[in-house]
Amino acid sequence: MLIMHCVALYGRSNDGDLLYDITKSFEYHVEHGLPLRRPDVRVQPPAHHATTIFGHPVASALGVAACPLTTAQGIAALAYLGYSIFTYKTVRNRAFPAHPLPNIAYVHDLHDAANDHAYPTCNARSHKPTSGPIGLVNSFGNACLEPAHMLADIRCAKDALTEQQFLMVSIYGTGDDITACADDFAALAQRVVQAGADAVECNLSCPNIPGKPPLYLEPDLAYCIMERVVQAVNVPVLIKIGYCTESTLRELLLAAVRAGVQGVCAINSLAVQAHNEDNEPYFGPARRVCGMSGDPIRAYALDMIKQARAIITHEQLPLTLFATGGVISLEHIDLFFAAGADVVMSASGVMLDPYLAMNYYTSQQSKE
Ligand SMILES: Cc1cc2nc3c(=O)[nH]c(=O)nc-3n(C[C@H](O)[C@H](O)[C@H](O)COP(=O)(O)O)c2cc1C
Repeated sequence: MLIMHCVALYGRSNDGDLLYDITKSFEYHVEHGLPLRRPDVRVQPPAHHATTIFGHPVASALGVAACPLTTAQGIAALAYLGYSIFTYKTVRNRAFPAHPLPNIAYVHDLHDAANDHAYPTCNARSHKPTSGPIGLVNSFGNACLEPAHMLADIRCAKDALTEQQFLMVSIYGTGDDITACADDFAALAQRVVQAGADAVECNLSCPNIPGKPPLYLEPDLAYCIMERVVQAVNVPVLIKIGYCTESTLRELLLAAVRAGVQGVCAINSLAVQAHNEDNEPYFGPARRVCGMSGDPIRAYALDMIKQARAIITHEQLPLTLFATGGVISLEHIDLFFAAGADVVMSASGVMLDPYLAMNYYTSQQSKE
């Protein structure tokens, strides 16, 4: 009853349009707001969904992963739609402009990792495919507002949450070498905690050091970052990682626990090459590689979550496991819980349908 009332107030049907205008820039959305407004009535997950993460009570284990919706305005709206855990989109220690448009496109055909390409390739277009799997490719470049503006926005996001909701902030440090990068991460972690972050998520899945692969692929280097951040703050620290082999994942999780990290979130968008109608790089020659999300990466994400759960159980690691990657519809949420996730999050799925969590609770009730 309450749920239906809320939908009416929210005033948007689930027509599948993205809650982000892909023809407009990141900066435009900051200035003009997202096409998402806060409903008047809050969806309260049924009591039996309540749980804890890092000892903090939450109304459910469903969340929204870092994406353009997870700044204060989007978090404030989604907090009313039944999500309990939010990752504020990745921030930096300094202002950084988004890459020029386009920043987001729809995946039309995905070609499996061909032997002559380092990355899987796909066709990308500005319009949604009429049928079949729904995937997105994005290339933003971890844009960040001026620090004062960004920190004030994190504070607003935190203030929009109830006691039973939880705010993680994704941070991205950079530097010419690992020491500089770790210093940058640690300083940023302190700033976002002061601004209200309940936990800090270290984004190790984008290239942090020029010319080097993302840090999650190099567990020894990742350890330096994790240790510094854990020492710098008094809130739980987690890491966001991308797809990798089982042996790298094992090394990484063991290093994370040695460093005092308490959680791992997998997976970030999958690195692919997206092509336009002329078979040219969709985002331009300087941005041949972009991140793919949604339906096409679910199998990769499930694989990682199953492997991570097996390692955590076998090695008895004190890590909370956050899953994201291809949670587009209700049954996908169950798939990830069954695979061993403690928390299930979505980015693309929520951008396509903000009612995912709300409909999940309703579907669970009808099964009882
Ligand atoms: C448009 C877009 C922007 C994203 N921005 C971030 C980000 O700022 N930081 C981050 O760690 N992940 C970011 N992600 C990755 C998501 O958090 C998530 O890991 C990935 O998209 C897989 O989940 P999904 O299939 O539910 O989208 C972004 C994803 C999308 C689609």
